[in-house]
Amino acid sequence: MDTRTNPYAPGAGTPPPELAGRDSVIEDAAVALDRIRNGLSAKCMTMIGLRGVGKTVLLGRIAMDAEARGMSTVQVEAKEGGRLAVLLAAPLRSRLLAMSRRAAAGDMARRALRVLGSFVRATRLRYGDMEIGFDSEREPGIADSGSLEHDLGDLLRASGEAAQAHDTAVVLFVDELQYLAQLELGALIAALHQAAQRQLPVTMVGAGLPQTVANAGKARTYAERMFSFREIGPLDSEAAARAIERPAEALGVSYAPDAVESNGVEPGPPP
Ligand SMILES: Nc1ncnc2c1ncn2[C@@H]1O[C@H](COP(=O)(O)OP(=O)(O)O)[C@@H](O)[C@H]1O
Ligand SMILES: [Mg+2]
Repeated sequence: MDTRTNPYAPGAGTPPPELAGRDSVIEDAAVALDRIRNGLSAKCMTMIGLRGVGKTVLLGRIAMDAEARGMSTVQVEAKEGGRLAVLLAAPLRSRLLAMSRRAAAGDMARRALRVLGSFVRATRLRYGDMEIGFDSEREPGIADSGSLEHDLGDLLRASGEAAQAHDTAVVLFVDELQYLAQLELGALIAALHQAAQRQLPVTMVGAGLPQTVANAGKARTYAERMFSFREIGPLDSEAAARAIERPAEALGVSYAPDAVESNGVEPGPPP
């Protein structure tokens, strides 16, 4: 095979040439996000599955579709020992800046930016030497209490109010949720819960390893009612075949049926 034209590009989170077998998840996520933008309720969809099943590429696809429909996406990947506040600050800022530049209703976005300024400052005080590389005006008394749960609640509320004024939704895409410490996951769930109670257009689409379900339940007892956990498993054989055949078809190449069917699934003879 010519390496210049080889359509297959496996790798963690690398979008496949053909995202096979996930149409219903993509559609359900789109429905949930459209509901949220319209001020209706929907649970936070969270993809659960083992490593390599395709959670990250699915999350990326849902985010891309949401952006195409005019939503403000904030895409982050949690890391072991990483701070949620630090992860969210920079991408959220660029979304709010983009909103504030639109002439109509820019005030709400500018206010949300000041709330973010307060949040970042409180975060710096809380964690000491923080690696958030910007300073901005602040909104005294909002998002600066030093309690992550409280401050994140204020931040998501202000972001949601700005999104509402701009007819959009702020959608947090959080990958590798299992890495969030209980305190951070709890604060995130509580902040999303508050936004939902106010019917603000703020939500999350998440992904994580199976322990994420138990972690969320431990962090907040009502997590189950906030999230819709979606189990992502291996592709069925039809979708798996499509994932292999379609990219080759696009190059005018086809596989012998045997080559596709014996796609590593059948156990070989013992050595
Ligand atoms: N539906 C799919 N069809 C074809 N390839 C896929 C599909 N889902 C995932 N892949 C491929 O599988 C690999 C692992 O996907 P990834 O999203 O990183 O998994 P996870 O995040 O669950 O560990 C990537 O190379 C990706 O392109
Ligand atoms: Mg992944």
